[in-house]
Amino acid sequence: MIFSLSQKLRLTQIAKTGCVVAALSIGFASSALAQEKHRMTLAEQMIQDMKDGKLAAPGADDHVVQELIIKRNIPITYKYINILMNTPNAFGPGVACVTCHNSQDPSKSYRGLDLSTCKGMIEGSTEKPKNALFVAGKDPKRDILIRRLRNNRMPLGQSFDNPTYTPAHMLVKNWIADGAKNDAHFTKNVLPLFSTANAFGPSTPACTSCHMSNQEPPSFHELNLTTHAGIMLGADSVAKGVDKSTKVIVAGNPGASFVWQHLAEDRMPPGISPQEPRDHPNTTILSAWIKQGAKCD
Ligand code: HEC
Ligand code: HEC
Repeated sequence: MIFSLSQKLRLTQIAKTGCVVAALSIGFASSALAQEKHRMTLAEQMIQDMKDGKLAAPGADDHVVQELIIKRNIPITYKYINILMNTPNAFGPGVACVTCHNSQDPSKSYRGLDLSTCKGMIEGSTEKPKNALFVAGKDPKRDILIRRLRNNRMPLGQSFDNPTYTPAHMLVKNWIADGAKNDAHFTKNVLPLFSTANAFGPSTPACTSCHMSNQEPPSFHELNLTTHAGIMLGADSVAKGVDKSTKVIVAGNPGASFVWQHLAEDRMPPGISPQEPRDHPNTTILSAWIKQGAKCD
């Protein structure tokens, strides 16, 4: 029988694991093991979790990262983050981040954003409006850096070179800034944009072809963009409950409103296909580095 490289690897892993599991079960009673857990090596913890059935079933792309790095809180070094910023295809097909973001001089680097140094990442963009990319120590899921890696620009399939400042974009932005009211201006000029194809860019479907009711499927994220009430209710109101639905409008604050973020922010690297998984293993690691305090050493 001929084994592929990955099969061979798996076989040696199984063989090794088997030996250690056997050694462990001879050496320790399992209650003693639980008490000893804080002193166990990472490999011993992993084997214990296997025995206890605590390793989640494989499947998701970042399964290994979740199981072996995130759950065990392995410290992420800036050195690795720096490699990610300098490496093509690090978050899905595309050139390296630093080709376009390598200096705080906005005449040389998009948004005056320097992703080539730790200091530059922490300071964020320097061109107006200046933006911090994350808050060290906090979950960055909704912060700019991780948003740009995970959130596809809407309408889904929108090309990155379509402008984000068309009259239609400005109507939505100003409507949110003015309080997101359910008035005659909204009904006549803003609401219809969501149900019109090509309203926010050439060759793009209407928002409501994907977000038309509270039921998923067919409506992505149970988001209903056909009425004022639906927009204000937000996403996932059935799955999470009406009180805990994800609000997509913050009246008076377009920047904090997911509708505006999804209309205006291109996923990075520019041109990446929306079909590329949004939870790339390296995005998970970048998030972990930020949650751990974004340390530069
Ligand atoms: C080919 C050039 C290019 C590459 C490569 C690129 N970007 Fe960008 N990036 C841009 C442009 C252009 C903008 C500004 C337009 C926009 O906001 O979409 C931008 C904006 C951003 C912003 C928003 C900054 C702010 O002030 O709000 C972030 C964050 C960002 N990029 C992160 C990244 C990351 C992380 C990577 C690597 C995965 C990356 N970019 C790769 C061109 C690029
Ligand atoms: C072809 C289908 C499709 C179209 C058209 C579309 N969306 Fe989406 N939308 C999605 C999918 C899929 C997601 C899940 C996240 C992702 O892919 O980035 C999503 C996510 C969102 C979210 C985030 C919801 C959350 O829970 O955070 C908002 C807001 C949103 N879309 C608004 C819009 C708006 C506004 C339009 C029109 C300009 C639009 N969408 C058009 C498919 C679509």
